Amino acid sequence: MPEGGYYSSKKTDDICEDICGEQNSRAALSMSRLRCALRGFDLKALLLLFVGIPILIFIIYVHGQKISYFLRPLWESPPKPFNTIPHYYHENVSMENLCKFHGWGVREMPRRVFDAVLFSNELDVLEIRWHELSPYVSEFVLLESNSTFTGLKKPLFFAKNRHRFKFAESRLTYGTVGGRFVKGENPFVEESYQRVALDQLIRIAGITDDDLLIMSDVDEIPSGHTINLLRWCDDIPEKLHLQLRNYLYSFEFFLDDKSWRASVHRYRAGKTRYAHFRQTDDLLADSGWHCSFCFRHISEFIFKMKAYSHVDRVRFSYYLNPSRIQDVICRGADLFDMLPEEYTFQEIIAKLGPIPSSYSAVHLPGHLLQNVDQYRYLLPGNCKRGSG
Ligand SMILES: *[C@@H]1O[C@H](CO)[C@@H](O)[C@H](O)[C@H]1NC(C)=O
Ligand SMILES: *[C@@H]1O[C@H](CO)[C@@H](O)[C@H](O)[C@H]1NC(C)=O
Repeated sequence: MPEGGYYSSKKTDDICEDICGEQNSRAALSMSRLRCALRGFDLKALLLLFVGIPILIFIIYVHGQKISYFLRPLWESPPKPFNTIPHYYHENVSMENLCKFHGWGVREMPRRVFDAVLFSNELDVLEIRWHELSPYVSEFVLLESNSTFTGLKKPLFFAKNRHRFKFAESRLTYGTVGGRFVKGENPFVEESYQRVALDQLIRIAGITDDDLLIMSDVDEIPSGHTINLLRWCDDIPEKLHLQLRNYLYSFEFFLDDKSWRASVHRYRAGKTRYAHFRQTDDLLADSGWHCSFCFRHISEFIFKMKAYSHVDRVRFSYYLNPSRIQDVICRGADLFDMLPEEYTFQEIIAKLGPIPSSYSAVHLPGHLLQNVDQYRYLLPGNCKRGSG
């Protein structure tokens, strides 16, 4: 397009020169020169109007989100930093000492722990999560809906696969909630509706004051030793966010350690509400893993992209093309072709482009490494997915 525009404007100049070259009188010459110049100018202006502006609009349409994300440091200041609490752990240090290092006392009996999640379709990650937490959890609470947050009908994936979770059955409080299927609504409304239903289910599970309640998405997996520490130590904060290591697609692509949404609460009847936003300033360092879009099958990626609260990011239908998705996964690139969501230019630029591969499978959830054959796709060097 720009080449064509350049070419035709060049041609007009030539025609203009021919006409101008034939002029004899100086006055007439300068007059027509002016006219020629004006004509040239008009043509350029017209070209700009009819070619340049549509191209610009097209660029903004395709890359507008990127432009606004890139300029985000100008219009949005970073949130107040967390008060990050140093986290001490080694398997051979006594609980008494571990609590002491954190400035806490040790209890005679551990608190009861409730792990509550809203379930969508992350079956493998749920299995890894529950095995990781199993030694420390008194009650697993799981709610699932027949609607995604975006109002699409979905099967009750957990109910269909409940046999995979026999090890947790005796400690499971399971509930379902019917979707409201409101068309065109902001997905965050359905999400908060489901979270309120989860609050009720947690009460049904028998939680009482000072029990620990883990509030996190299924793919935000606290490490077992972190939960063990929090249940054994006395004076831990009433609410505490957990800093998790962010991974994308598998444990091959380590992004950063900035995941903070997961939190642990000492339950207070009538006060504690299940939430996934920032609730306090305290953040316990290095407390587990957040594995986003860690799915076995390409079809699950597509489902999640459509079901997810940020469905507006699927701006073009080719984003859902399976071979594109496979390619994006193997490169560690972004499924939605977005820029990093950061608050300073320095951080945006540092994170531009795909995530480099990691070759470490050290300090990952135990169940994953005890079942390497089953979960190979989550480990470094295994980005190819099945289509199923
Ligand atoms: C932890 O303690 C046990 C028993 O004392 C010992 O056998 C083991 O080697 C220790 N592990 C580490 C990593 O120091
Ligand atoms: C969703 O579940 C609710 C409650 O179980 C039920 O009444 C409703 O018919 C279901 N909707 C669909 C579309 O399956």
